[in-house]
Amino acid sequence: MSTIRVAIDGPSGAGKSTLARAAAAALGFLYVDTGAIYRTVGLSARDQGVDPGDETAVAAMLPALQVELRYDEAGRQRMLLNNRDVSEEIRLPEISRYASAVSALPVVRAYLMETQRELARKNNVVMDGRDIGTVILPDAEVKIFLTASAQVRAERRCRELVERGTPQPFEEVLQDIEDRDFRDTHREAAPLRQAEGAALLDTSALDFQQSLEALLGMIRERTGL
Ligand code: DC
Repeated sequence: MSTIRVAIDGPSGAGKSTLARAAAAALGFLYVDTGAIYRTVGLSARDQGVDPGDETAVAAMLPALQVELRYDEAGRQRMLLNNRDVSEEIRLPEISRYASAVSALPVVRAYLMETQRELARKNNVVMDGRDIGTVILPDAEVKIFLTASAQVRAERRCRELVERGTPQPFEEVLQDIEDRDFRDTHREAAPLRQAEGAALLDTSALDFQQSLEALLGMIRERTGL
């Protein structure tokens, strides 16, 4: 039996992961946060003192790398790096920069492609990332490009950082988001863009509940669920 695949792409801080996770829970689908996989590779580069922009050095690191996805009893995705749970560590702002750099390398994208496709072959999924609708699952049943203005995304990120106990000045957070947007959309390997046939959902003016309703509405309309 074939699975139902919901591909959600968009820039960082658009609320993708929170919304995708909630939508997956409402539908009874597996939620796959692909950014967490790139973050785990980024963390590994940092731990090993590997320059994340050096494709040869990163490629040399990959064969010995054990990156695993697990789901805990609550259905939350956990990331394991060489059997160590790194789910919290990969959220550090420093790791965002490492993740962005390693994710620009074709060798890393190729290395992670099959892991992502396999999850979608075995499960009904809501998968979020940057290239899910364009590269990983171009024939997904539902494709959504989820975005919000950089200003709104920076405000949301600041609130999140405060809640995590690692506050950062707004201007820095905004600059970080704009830099990352630029790198993610201008890189040669699988740049972030709205996939062909993807519906656009802009959540700038929507709160969480309104965004979730809009997202579920789009998914239900396209799958008949
Ligand atoms: O969504 P995130 O911020 O956790 O993603 C971390 C980095 O990984 C980000 O710079 C973009 C990159 N990424 C990617 O290139 N492709 C994906 N499918 C998911 C994330």
